[in-house]
Amino acid sequence: MSFTVAIDGPAAAGKGTLARALAHYFGFAYLDTGLLYRAVGAGVLAGGDPVAVAQTLDPSDLENEALRTQAVAEAASQVAVIAEVRAALVVFQREFARRDGGAVLDGRDIGTVICPQADVKLFVTASPETRAERRFLELDAKGVVTDRAAILAEVRARDARDQGRAEAPLVAAEDATEIDTTDLTAEEAVMQAITIVAERRRTS
Ligand code: DC
Repeated sequence: MSFTVAIDGPAAAGKGTLARALAHYFGFAYLDTGLLYRAVGAGVLAGGDPVAVAQTLDPSDLENEALRTQAVAEAASQVAVIAEVRAALVVFQREFARRDGGAVLDGRDIGTVICPQADVKLFVTASPETRAERRFLELDAKGVVTDRAAILAEVRARDARDQGRAEAPLVAAEDATEIDTTDLTAEEAVMQAITIVAERRRTS
């Protein structure tokens, strides 16, 4: 039986942490849909045509640490405004969402466009300053030299592009439950998400 959890929200709000925890707790498969756009962005940085890269993407292209850089994130946000790129990625995401045993997908348009019938929709947010600080600490721990102001500017620029685009903009679905992680620990946010999903599973 399928059971779909859709998680949307801006960059570094904690979507991945919640998605991985839910997948682990309930035994669901997990798809980080940002990786699809990152793989297309990386292909474009390597000289490819965005639509052609999206149409020929292979799931094995997603298992690549090089997709985690800020340059690739920026390129991903840029290719994500192209309607044909988004269209090329829809079928893979919908099939993943329907798989037996349940699936959790995180991204920007999962509850609104990819899986409007999802069993649970979460919209995960945090203030731009909190998200930038988390990203800074993450990069700092990896030994990447950067500064807080530059990261905050990148976070704001990516928010503006993801929210302002015509095609599948980042917006909470009307029936999504919002989790604001600004003042929550990761454990507290995970507990909220598990409680919401467990309740829905009981009643579905
Ligand atoms: O979640 P992320 O930071 O890995 O996503 C990278 C970019 O990809 C993000 O800035 C916008 C785009 N994206 C999208 O448009 N739709 C999705 N479902 C996931 C990501």
